Amino acid sequence: MKTPFSLNKIARASLIASLGILAACSNDGTTTPEANNALSKTEKIWPKLNIAVKQDPEIEAKIADYLKTMTLEQKVAQMIQPEIRDITVEDMRKYGFGSYLNGGGAFPNGDKHATPMDWVKLAEDFYQASVDDSIDGSKIPTMWGTDAVHGHNNVIGATLFPHNIGLGAANNPALIEQIAAITAVEVMATGIDWVFAPTVAVVRDDRWGRTYEGYSEDPRIVRDYSAAIVNGLQGKADGDFLSDKRVISTVKHFLGDGGTVDGDDQGNNIDSEQDLFDIHAQGYVGGLSAGSQSVMASFNSWHGVKNHGNKYLLTDVLKTRMGFDGFVVGDWNGHGQIEGCTNESCAQAVNAGLDIFMVPTGAWKPLYENTIAQVKAGEISMSRIDDAVSRILRVKLRAGLFDKPSPAKRQFSGKTELIGAQQHREVARQAVRESLVLLKNKNNILPLDANQTVLIAGDGADNIGKQSGGWSITWQGTNNKNADFPGATSIYAGLEKQITEAGGRAILSVDGSYEQRPDVAVVVFGEEPYAEGHGDRDNLEFERGNKKSLALLKSLKEQGIAVVSVFISGRPMWVNSELNASDAFVAAWLPGTEGGGIADVILKAKDGSIQHDFSGKLSFSWPKTAVQATVNKGDDDYSPLLPYGFGLTYGDKNVLADNLDEDSKLDNSALTSMDI
Ligand code: GLC
Repeated sequence: MKTPFSLNKIARASLIASLGILAACSNDGTTTPEANNALSKTEKIWPKLNIAVKQDPEIEAKIADYLKTMTLEQKVAQMIQPEIRDITVEDMRKYGFGSYLNGGGAFPNGDKHATPMDWVKLAEDFYQASVDDSIDGSKIPTMWGTDAVHGHNNVIGATLFPHNIGLGAANNPALIEQIAAITAVEVMATGIDWVFAPTVAVVRDDRWGRTYEGYSEDPRIVRDYSAAIVNGLQGKADGDFLSDKRVISTVKHFLGDGGTVDGDDQGNNIDSEQDLFDIHAQGYVGGLSAGSQSVMASFNSWHGVKNHGNKYLLTDVLKTRMGFDGFVVGDWNGHGQIEGCTNESCAQAVNAGLDIFMVPTGAWKPLYENTIAQVKAGEISMSRIDDAVSRILRVKLRAGLFDKPSPAKRQFSGKTELIGAQQHREVARQAVRESLVLLKNKNNILPLDANQTVLIAGDGADNIGKQSGGWSITWQGTNNKNADFPGATSIYAGLEKQITEAGGRAILSVDGSYEQRPDVAVVVFGEEPYAEGHGDRDNLEFERGNKKSLALLKSLKEQGIAVVSVFISGRPMWVNSELNASDAFVAAWLPGTEGGGIADVILKAKDGSIQHDFSGKLSFSWPKTAVQATVNKGDDDYSPLLPYGFGLTYGDKNVLADNLDEDSKLDNSALTSMDI
């Protein structure tokens, strides 16, 4: 149940301004004469991009040859992307799907502990079935898409980098490109070709459960990062573009996913068209200009029209006006949300410009059959099918999939030493260091001397799953144990190692109890892992109705023990009470497997010198009330608790006193367990 939203002046203006386009776009996304007129007025909004990857006449000629020889069945099969839990290798042999995916929490043989070689074997089996023309008459190689959104996060032992919100705070595009290149290598070690990343959402309402998948509320960071990630994943267009060291990238989710009303996941974006470009499209300007070869359509609507069926956005804007010549892949049966569509039947999406149906569950077979029938019945034109298939073949040819060895025989496949390699983890640890933002440091308590007795408390202290967040082994990042992250370092383990080496003593005590009184306490607490809509919240109050972390902080303070808080979260939250109870407060976001990065910054070296100073700066404004969920840099009445770009370094004057307003202004009387 969301608090009813009141249209602020921007939303009201944009709604009025955009109604003209909305009224002209019918529900199936086709445009009407009025919309065509509106198009001319908005021509200037969407620039033709200078895309680094140019069309290759040889590739275009090959595409034309393939189209001449392919049957309708073979063409439609290229547009169907089933999920590994729903098809067999023999289905692949029979139908020749153009691609397939594993969703979050899907593993070869349904085994969470599948080895890298299990992933490689499945990739090889599906590939060999796809090029076997004995049944479907097609030799076109298939390709495997996976969500490697903060490292190869489905695979046991992989390096998990800080989630995007932390990388946004690091504000280091060169590091981001390195992270993407490492991710590509670990993905290829498992025989996979294609990554559904980067997410380029510009998040404007932090109640959204995918806030942490965004780099920032600032479109400029997202634009620059998107290009860096695409270059790291695919290689630069004038470099080793889609070589055997690189994977296909996907900029997602097109368009406006970070700007829905109330931050509702899969909700309605009512921004003006100008704001849609200025705020939400900048990641596509960066990523598509760098040559990203695919775009994922978004679940959200724009002025009530589902993006998966919006021809104006998917075709007129993205393909015709911006000049994108790769393919558009749908998101997880997103086509089924279009009015008049089902997961099994949706000509509207193809006509709007969707090129590949991501169709998990058993819907793939009826969808395949219905789409063929819709072409035969004239509901979908052959030219639209040929355009979609041309785009898919163009990307496969650019990626060299017709010439590369099969997955098992590629240069990184099966090199399990690459997965979670120490040098990869070192880069991730650097990213952790650079992502940390120091919000409070009373009396400059940080950095801590390591040669003292440090109590390390809180349910996040020795909890690698919690510090990694959603999209970590499992989709929601839940039901994991530390043993599910071999090679990883919890925040406690990182602190304990350095404190012990310095002659101090680290005491792990989740509930804060102790026998030997500590000199100082580090308390690691924060949000439990979540992904997508499961993370949507009514407001930004942390632990609303169950202030167990605050109780721990206060208990230690009442015993006269100084408290350093390390806050694990996928978004800025309202933590005024927790801030007041802390001597120092670090926003650690979702650091991933390399928790040692926290010790590197908050502890002095053995010789008492600063190891690493804080460099992270807020890429999201920090709220001063529990309902200030849409405070963003550039607002007319901008008044956060801590502004975008804030971050203390050592020696800076502390700015937060201990008397922040502790009234959440929320009526807890209606509180239900669902709100916590
Ligand atoms: C999910 C997400 C998308 C992801 C896809 C495949 O629902 O919206 O980001 O790439 O499904 O897992």
